[in-house]
Amino acid sequence: MGRIDERLVVMQRSSSHNKISRRGFLGAAAGAAALSFVHLPGIGRVQAQPFPITANNDFVNRLCYNENPLGPSPLALTAMQEACNLAHRYPDWYSGDLESRIAQYHGLSQANVCAGAGATEVIRLIADALLGPGDEVVTATPTYSQMGNEAVANGASVVHVPVDENYAIDLAAISAAVGSGTTMVSLVNPNNPQATILDKTDLEIFAGTLPDGVVIVVDEAYHDYVHSPNYESSLRYILEGKPFIVVRTMSKSFGLAGSRIGYALAAPELISQISSSQQFGTISRPSQAAAQAAFDDSVHVTNTVALNDQAKAILEDGFSSLGLDFIPSHTNFVMFDTGGNAAGIASELSALGYQVRTGWGMPQHIRVSTGLLEEMQGFLDALASILLTGFSAEPELPQSLAVMSTYPNPFNSTCKIQLWIPAPEPVDLTIYDLSGRKIRVLETGLLDPGVHQVTWDGRDFAGRDVASGTYVLNLIQGEYAASRRVSFVK
Ligand SMILES: Cc1ncc(COP(=O)(O)O)c(C=O)c1O
Repeated sequence: MGRIDERLVVMQRSSSHNKISRRGFLGAAAGAAALSFVHLPGIGRVQAQPFPITANNDFVNRLCYNENPLGPSPLALTAMQEACNLAHRYPDWYSGDLESRIAQYHGLSQANVCAGAGATEVIRLIADALLGPGDEVVTATPTYSQMGNEAVANGASVVHVPVDENYAIDLAAISAAVGSGTTMVSLVNPNNPQATILDKTDLEIFAGTLPDGVVIVVDEAYHDYVHSPNYESSLRYILEGKPFIVVRTMSKSFGLAGSRIGYALAAPELISQISSSQQFGTISRPSQAAAQAAFDDSVHVTNTVALNDQAKAILEDGFSSLGLDFIPSHTNFVMFDTGGNAAGIASELSALGYQVRTGWGMPQHIRVSTGLLEEMQGFLDALASILLTGFSAEPELPQSLAVMSTYPNPFNSTCKIQLWIPAPEPVDLTIYDLSGRKIRVLETGLLDPGVHQVTWDGRDFAGRDVASGTYVLNLIQGEYAASRRVSFVK
């Protein structure tokens, strides 16, 4: 499914998902009770079948999702198993005990917490509560893109500010991009995919210079992995009364990705806005139990971080001995420069059983998650075998003409367009609107065979911003043509 289609799905979801909220809970619960009389299940009709047991080692070498290779804490596992005995009873609708435990863990009050089914639900709730047409979000690129996507789905616009030459989020440039229409700055610290941190002094200056009316969301999914003295959680700004929202997940250092638990921390007024559209009961009973128990097991988090440090050291040594540059990592994943066609190498790794990620407009980089130490060694051996058995350092020449990617899409200021040019013949890249009107010629003439990047600034022939909407990028070379759609959002 292309990016535009994905966005359509997001938009459809967002128009229908708020029907039963925490506020509307009582009425909905009454409805649910009435329904249960109508649909009494045919107890005993179907004999329980034994479940096929999925072996844990199905997930060996899954190095693409930044999961915790140690698994959940033993305390969380026991709590989850016990809670399963009550799986026929609805959970605490508002996750009250869990929110209170989260508050205690962070030295806050329960009114500062909104827990949800993963940071994914929480980010969605924040966007739904705070963003609509006329709002503008300033964020980095590349970064974890959910907030930008939710913003667009809610009709807000997004300004993407490129990371700096060290792949770090450029706070000065983000600050400069904040305008009178900006209502939110969305940061990921440490950032994903580059694993870089924001310098705490820069963040302090930034927090002190923001105009009124701007909320800062800081996604700290990888907080527990950071050791640098230059890093600081933005929790302190909440305590100082600044309009910050901190997002955390239990999917990483707590090893509960499959349980789906995340939360937002903020001032009570912001939390009540965020939670007002939440469906009741989105965190299952076993997950609520697991999360509470996990907070009691600091040893498990310590072991997780220690394993991560060892795994990263193996990876970094391996990259150095293979002569590959990598971005020093503050998280449980590392981005390294393959020096060649990352997507091609990733697919060869996949054939050898190692799942990694590529993308983000970084065609030479691969993001690899840390795993168990033997997985790290196996991964490096596989990588070495691919690189050393004649894999060309040069990106492969494309076999066909293509508008391979547009990034970001939708876009608000500039969009990077990747072209695959297979032959040394003149090309023509023209933008049309959906009625077929020619908007701009972006490229015309000879391009060397290979991968090229072209930028569109959202302007037409006359240098005017085009209207918000969908445009077609048409690439022609001789008798071949390729096209792709891109959306511009003002
Ligand atoms: C920065 C960041 N935020 C949020 C998430 C999603 O977290 P969750 O699993 O809690 O939905 C991820 C997942 O990888 C992430 O990297």
